[in-house]
Amino acid sequence: MKKNFFITLEGGEGSGKSTQAKLLADFFETKGITCLLTREPGGSKGAEEIRNLVVTGDIKRWDVMTETLLMFAARRDHLVKTIWPALKQGKTVISDRFADSSMAYQGFGYADKAVGAETIERLYDIVIGKFKPDLTIILDMPVEVGIERALQRDDTVNRYEKMGMDFHHNLRKAFLEIQQKEPQRCAIVNACGTIQQINDNIINIVKERLLKEF
Ligand code: TYD
Repeated sequence: MKKNFFITLEGGEGSGKSTQAKLLADFFETKGITCLLTREPGGSKGAEEIRNLVVTGDIKRWDVMTETLLMFAARRDHLVKTIWPALKQGKTVISDRFADSSMAYQGFGYADKAVGAETIERLYDIVIGKFKPDLTIILDMPVEVGIERALQRDDTVNRYEKMGMDFHHNLRKAFLEIQQKEPQRCAIVNACGTIQQINDNIINIVKERLLKEF
């Protein structure tokens, strides 16, 4: 059986991905499966440098196509330096965000200024090729709840958290559409429960879809 996987967690602002990604990594470790927890944008030295360029500063800092290219440049570095080597070493890789975030944020978040699905799909083909996550968990919650949670966190507010409510509604819709388009790869998890309930739901999906014999 294939023992190592590439799993991504996706969702809007304040959906609790980072907490759930960490708990999922702990679960794999308790099963004796070595796990690498990583994030986007970032996850390698070069990609972390690009991250600073995209998550800080004014809302209008980048034209959307430029921002999309920065995300894909960071992703390429992350894949080449971190994700692919770890998978080759037999590790399971869990990434807090991956390419579906580009589809939702740059592809649709910006409404009439967004680059659209076709551009994201073409860039995906060029930059990543046929490689895809084995499983993508999309944490879903009402936009207002997520934004309130994100703004209450004591870390600095990132560029995306400053976008208007329409932006966040577009994101939620885009993530739900991604799941409908690729139901074998993507599963929606309701992100409104307790940390433990959400973790249980994610682990059930992982067991059902990836780890049938555990
Ligand atoms: P982060 O502070 O990690 O936010 P979160 O905890 O919500 O993940 O900042 C990452 C931001 O980058 C996040 O707001 C979403 C955005 N992003 C994109 O717009 N496109 C992308 O392709 C990726 C990976 C992230």
